Amino acid sequence: MKIGMLCSGGDSPGMNACLRAIVRTAVSNGHEVVGFMDGYEGILRENFYIASIGTPRFLMRSVSGISKMGGTILHSSRCPEFATEGGMKKAAGILNKLGIDALIPIGGNGTLTGAHELCNYWDGQIIGCPGTIDNDLCGTDFTIGFKTAVQTAVDAVDKLRDTASSHHRMFLVELMGRHCGFITLYTALAAGCEVACVPEYPLQVEDIVQKLDYLKELGKSSIIMVVAEGYHEGVVALQEKLRNAGCPFPMRAVVLGHLLRGGDPCPEDRLLATQSGHLAVRAIENGQTDQMAGVRDCVATLCPLEEAISAHRVIPQELIELLDCVSQ
Ligand code: F6P
Repeated sequence: MKIGMLCSGGDSPGMNACLRAIVRTAVSNGHEVVGFMDGYEGILRENFYIASIGTPRFLMRSVSGISKMGGTILHSSRCPEFATEGGMKKAAGILNKLGIDALIPIGGNGTLTGAHELCNYWDGQIIGCPGTIDNDLCGTDFTIGFKTAVQTAVDAVDKLRDTASSHHRMFLVELMGRHCGFITLYTALAAGCEVACVPEYPLQVEDIVQKLDYLKELGKSSIIMVVAEGYHEGVVALQEKLRNAGCPFPMRAVVLGHLLRGGDPCPEDRLLATQSGHLAVRAIENGQTDQMAGVRDCVATLCPLEEAISAHRVIPQELIELLDCVSQ
């Protein structure tokens, strides 16, 4: 079979490990693998990654050493043209012309939504891999890149705690996650933050100030509040609202932003990516399509794309309560 692969949407640490697993699993079993550059745009532009001298065909050795590399060797993009019916039909025609039998898109909710919709226009097999730092896909315990992003955020917050303690300050730290608060909540618990503002459990400014007053009474001399992006229009706006509402600490604001997308993948993300990429190829060999290759309870598991992208991933209430308890 001829298998195409691509990375789309926000890149994430571990995507290269996934690409490596796809190539090693497929090529060792006699399949041909090519990589499209810049996500779905690479299909529309017939833009291939040149994997070996003068050819886009990946060899076993083409992916040596990339597991530890952040980013993606295929690069990535967001492709509005692909998201149209005309774009999907154009992509389907190109995939047929190129003799592609199966496609493995690696990406987040937007990427896998596009993959699910492409199934309506193309008869080839499609198996997606959950590559995003947001952890906003169902059907897999974690997404590729999430744990590395949390590690990066925790390292940054640990450093901010040093200076916050020295100056008796409160830091508002904005973290990525699009519409999902997992990075923010996991970072708060791991880094010992006092407050986490996540879209799933919105807090009123007055309630936050009331909690800060309580923490000050308990003798807290520094505060780290992590804030999911887009919450109250971001940390600078939230800082002003808190100041106007009587926040009892001097404040500084930090936006970690795309820092969370970089860095070498942690071992867990490399393992998750490898399991996912391997399963994607095995699923194609077994005639599966319109599925996501995730990992649940340490076992590589398929999930219908419609299920993976449909529901908003629920943040466990007990983690919110845990933070409230241990942050006092
Ligand atoms: O989906 C991953 C992500 O990093 C989100 O957390 C963030 O909101 C978005 O991508 C940023 O997109 P861009 O890299 O296009 O600015």
